[in-house]
This record gives sequence, structure tokens and C-alpha cells, in this order.
Amino acid sequence: MALRLGDEAPNFTADTTEGKINFHEWLGNGWGILFSHPKDFTPVCTTELGYVARVKGEFEKRGVKVIAISVDPLESHKGWTKDINETQHCTVNFPLIADPEKKTAMLYDMIHPNAADNMTVRSVFVIGPDKKIKLMITYPASCGRNFDELLRVVDSLQLTAKYKVATPVNWKDGQDCIVVPAVSDDDAKKLFPKGFRAVKPYLRYTPQPNK
Ligand code: BEZ
Repeated sequence: MALRLGDEAPNFTADTTEGKINFHEWLGNGWGILFSHPKDFTPVCTTELGYVARVKGEFEKRGVKVIAISVDPLESHKGWTKDINETQHCTVNFPLIADPEKKTAMLYDMIHPNAADNMTVRSVFVIGPDKKIKLMITYPASCGRNFDELLRVVDSLQLTAKYKVATPVNWKDGQDCIVVPAVSDDDAKKLFPKGFRAVKPYLRYTPQPNK
């Protein structure tokens, strides 16, 4: 059955470039991002993995571990990692899962046969500390992902997990948030000491509560 937001992220064991892992144990109590790349030694994937290696500190600051997967075998990942480090001026510093039997790819519905039956699409799963899926995005193989957008999404997810706010279009960390509709004006006055501004009864802005 297809995975949906709020489902538990399926657990698995797999060989990775950093040794064998049990996914849930590897996640521990923090956040995780699992993302698939269609194939080793391909240009778009090379740029993506290089970028993630270069900004890994930004994910760490937010308590997020990153892990990549493709259906190629471990030896191939190891050889390709050298190319990524050389061409993207980085050190790949997170695990790449080898999934030659496509077990994990199938578990996460990453093979879309009408796109390609022998490689994964570009899937991204953001997983919360409760191991539940908080976000899923699927890109075609031809389009490299925007990992700055994923950092922005993590900022929003972590904020909205703690406060009764949502984040508006193109929101960035530090900008005004939206008071969720389920909160009454009276409760909003107590919950948001910096105040709120009602443009419409259903559209109320408040400064980001944790800033
Ligand atoms: C790439 O990463 O460049 C790529 C992978 C599979 C199909 C097309 C492009």
C-alpha cells in the first residue's frame, strides 16, 4: 500500500557506505531525511549528493540526519563517492544505502514503472522523531532537487510541531507565521504574547513565536 503522511516510516536493514544499519536505530530520536537517487555515476545525482555533503552542517544544526539510497551496489557507491568528492569539492559525509535488490526502494514506493522500472525516481521523505512521515516529495529523474527548500520545510515542520502556527507562502525562518484556524482570538492572545494581526477572521499573522 502507498505510504501517506502520518504513516510510520517503514523500518529496514541495509548495507550502506558507513556499514550495515537498522533504519529506525540509525534515526534514533531525531529527524531524518531519506532521499533516493536514480543511479550511480549520473550527473544530476552527482551534484545533489555533493550539495548535501556541503550543507550537512545545516541539517545537523536542526537535528536532522540525511541518508541517500539507490539501487546500485555498495562497491559502485564507493567508487562514485570518490568522483563526487573530486568534482563537487566536498567529502560525502553521510551514508548511501546500497539497494541492488530494490527491497527498500519497493518498501518506500520509489520505483515508478511508468517512469523507469530499473531505477528509483527522486523521492524525499522527511521523518519526525516519532518515526512518522512528515513530508514526501517526488521528482522526476531529470530534475535535481532543491535542498535549501528542504531546510526551509524542516524549519516549518519543527516550528509547527511546537507552536499552534502554520507558515504562509514562501515563508522563511524569522518571518511572520499564521495562527492556526482552530485557535480562537481569546486563546491567541494568551498563546502569542507578541500579539497577532487579523487581516480576515481566518487570516491572522503573528511574529514567529520562537524568535
Ligand atoms: C542524473 O542524475 O543525471 C540522471 C539520472 C537518471 C536519469 C537522468 C538523469
